[in-house]
Amino acid sequence: MRFFSTMATALAVGQTAFAAPHKDHDSWGHDGKIAPKVLIISLFSPEADIWYEKLPSSGLGDLLDHNITAPGLSMLFPHVHCVSDHSICQMTTGESEINAASSVMAAALSGKFDLTKTYFMIAGIAGINPKYGTLGSVALAQYTVQVALQYEFDAREMPSNWSTGYFGYGTDAPNIYPGNAYGTEVLELSATLRDLAYGFASKANLSSDPTATEYGQRYAAVQNTSLYAPASQPPSVIKCDSVTSDVYFSGNILGEAFEEVTSVWTNGTGKYCMTAQEDSAVLEVLVRLAIEGLVDFSRAILMRTGSDFDRPPPNETAFDNLRIADQNGFDIAIDNIFNAGVEIVRGILDGWHTTFHKGVEPANYIGDIFGSLGGAPDFGPGSTTNGTGYKPHGRSGDEMRRRGVSSGMGRKAGYAKRATVGRN
Ligand SMILES: *[C@@H]1O[C@H](CO)[C@@H](O)[C@H](O)[C@H]1NC(C)=O
Ligand SMILES: *[C@@H]1O[C@H](CO)[C@@H](O)[C@H](O)[C@H]1NC(C)=O
Ligand SMILES: *[C@@H]1O[C@H](CO)[C@@H](O)[C@H](O)[C@H]1NC(C)=O
Ligand SMILES: *[C@@H]1O[C@H](CO)[C@@H](O)[C@H](O)[C@H]1NC(C)=O
Ligand SMILES: *[C@@H]1O[C@H](CO)[C@@H](O)[C@H](O)[C@H]1NC(C)=O
Ligand SMILES: *[C@@H]1O[C@H](CO)[C@@H](O)[C@H](O)[C@H]1NC(C)=O
Ligand SMILES: *[C@@H]1O[C@H](CO)[C@@H](O)[C@H](O)[C@H]1NC(C)=O
Repeated sequence: MRFFSTMATALAVGQTAFAAPHKDHDSWGHDGKIAPKVLIISLFSPEADIWYEKLPSSGLGDLLDHNITAPGLSMLFPHVHCVSDHSICQMTTGESEINAASSVMAAALSGKFDLTKTYFMIAGIAGINPKYGTLGSVALAQYTVQVALQYEFDAREMPSNWSTGYFGYGTDAPNIYPGNAYGTEVLELSATLRDLAYGFASKANLSSDPTATEYGQRYAAVQNTSLYAPASQPPSVIKCDSVTSDVYFSGNILGEAFEEVTSVWTNGTGKYCMTAQEDSAVLEVLVRLAIEGLVDFSRAILMRTGSDFDRPPPNETAFDNLRIADQNGFDIAIDNIFNAGVEIVRGILDGWHTTFHKGVEPANYIGDIFGSLGGAPDFGPGSTTNGTGYKPHGRSGDEMRRRGVSSGMGRKAGYAKRATVGRN
């Protein structure tokens, strides 16, 4: 999550009434497990509360009808919530990469759910890049890039001709493809599903706010007006990508540095418009589970709504933009999670029998930089499995070790830098 202020909002949003639990066999999978058609993944309370508050009046059910516990869920958010027929469930992971990965893995491996046909929708607020959108914009992503997974010098100690202190593992300067990969650098989602979600979300009437509109219009004063034009337009649904970092970075220099990282690591395809703290973590969990056949990675949707600009408008400091200025984007970002998200949920449920039960074949590569799910990544140095993907139950790792093939792309870059492959 990224949020501007207003924890009061979080506390003010009440939880609504609940209906008595009732059993319905529509969304029960094998062995009596719960088989939701959609699992909404929220990261912190306000992103969840909007669904508890507003879903009942949409006619799609009340997420507080079933509360399901599992060992390993966040101590702050110890339940997965589902509507009465279990067609829609929702969980809150807790913020940042560690909480996000731990919580989703716990829910998925709890034994209580059959997620093989479930559509996962990450639905959170984010920092927005004014080159792509504005406060309240709704982005649907094809990529998330873990931009801070790099070496970093404090800028005061970096070589004097560098534009950023961040540079990739196994490299000697910024904006060179990393020579070593941990596996979570870039995760690519189905653009085919993303486009369908975009169509559904585009039906929504998005919330806007006069103070937020005025703040966005300040970017029109930058010298290259056309570059920042989206910031001064009303919020809309956009197709562009997210970056993940535990560090809540802000300002022009880091914004532009991570735009470059996104472009280089996705081989020119990715466009950084939203910054958040959980996406790579959630999606890495889904890659791992997809290897085991427990989820279908082509059913993942990544939606982020802009709550605050990631860099200041002209004549404002980075500090003032982050901590002082009243951008007023928080409430509309939360609203638009629901406004756009409910249309996506409805679209999937309405099209379940015709389209979504059997799944939507992705036209693009999906998965990670290793090629873990098979196929040839359209970014990075190529599949580490010759396109076959990793086999379940650890079999590929075992086979590779026996044959002396190194799995992954070289490890511990910082410790064995000169010895590793792939420097370019
Ligand atoms: C589920 O938990 C919420 C609080 O998070 C509570 O308001 C609701 O009554 C619970 N539902 C059931 C069926 O116990
Ligand atoms: C910075 O200067 C070094 C030393 O002169 C040079 O090797 C390097 O290419 C320069 N890097 C950039 C990004 O200009
Ligand atoms: C959006 O607003 C228009 C005009 O008020 C209304 O006709 C339409 O149903 C609304 N759409 C949604 C998805 O609420
Ligand atoms: C920014 O500040 C400079 C110097 O005070 C001033 O000339 C310029 O008009 C200001 N620009 C905007 C957009 O406020
Ligand atoms: C201004 O922005 C446009 C649109 O992104 C871009 O094509 C152009 O190169 C930019 N010009 C300068 C001088 O940065
Ligand atoms: C991506 O770019 C890197 C660096 O230029 C290159 O080595 C790699 O082959 C490219 N990958 C693809 C799939 O084009
Ligand atoms: C991929 O194929 C090459 C050439 O056939 C072989 O040397 C390598 O061991 C294979 N790698 C894996 C992971 O199977």
